[in-house]
Amino acid sequence: MFDFRPDPDCPKPEAYRQLCDAADALTSGEPDAVANMANSAALLWDFLPDLNWAGFYRLVDGELVLGPFVGRPACIRIPLGSGVCGVAAAKSETQLVEDVHAFPGHIACDGDTNSELVVPVVREGQVVAVIDLDSPKKARFDHEDRAGIEKLASILSDRI
Ligand code: SME
Repeated sequence: MFDFRPDPDCPKPEAYRQLCDAADALTSGEPDAVANMANSAALLWDFLPDLNWAGFYRLVDGELVLGPFVGRPACIRIPLGSGVCGVAAAKSETQLVEDVHAFPGHIACDGDTNSELVVPVVREGQVVAVIDLDSPKKARFDHEDRAGIEKLASILSDRI
C-alpha cells in the first residue's frame, strides 16, 4: 500500500517538497507513462486543496490530447495556442491565470473553474505534455504553486 499523506498544516513549499518526493518515489523506475501520469494526478488531488481538476494533456501529433486526470470529464483535444493549456504548450511557458474569465480564449471544461495553473513538461527541449490545475477559487495559485509544479514537471519529464 502507498501511504503518502499530505500534512494540511505545513507551509506550501514543504507541501510541494512532500508531493515531489512522493511523485519521484512512485514514478522512479516505472516505464509506463500512463501509470506515472495517473499516480501523479492522484497525488496532486490529494496534496493540494481547493482544486476541481488536476491532470495532464499530452502533445500528440501537434495537438494536446487529454491524459490521466482527477475531476469532471474534460475536453479531449486542444489545438496548440488555444486556451490556457494550448498557450502554455505553444509558448513552452507556464501560465498562471488568476481569473480564467479574463483570459482570451479560455476553454471552459468545468463552469466552476475560476483560476488555473498550466505548466509545460519539457523533454530534450520539446514540450511533451502539460500539467493542468483548475480551482473554483479566484487567484488560487501563486508563485509557490508555480515553483512546486515546475519542479514536479522536471521530475516527470523523462517518465511520461
Ligand atoms: N481550461 C483549459 C482546458 C482544460 S480544462 O481546464 C481541464 C484551457 O483553457 O486550456
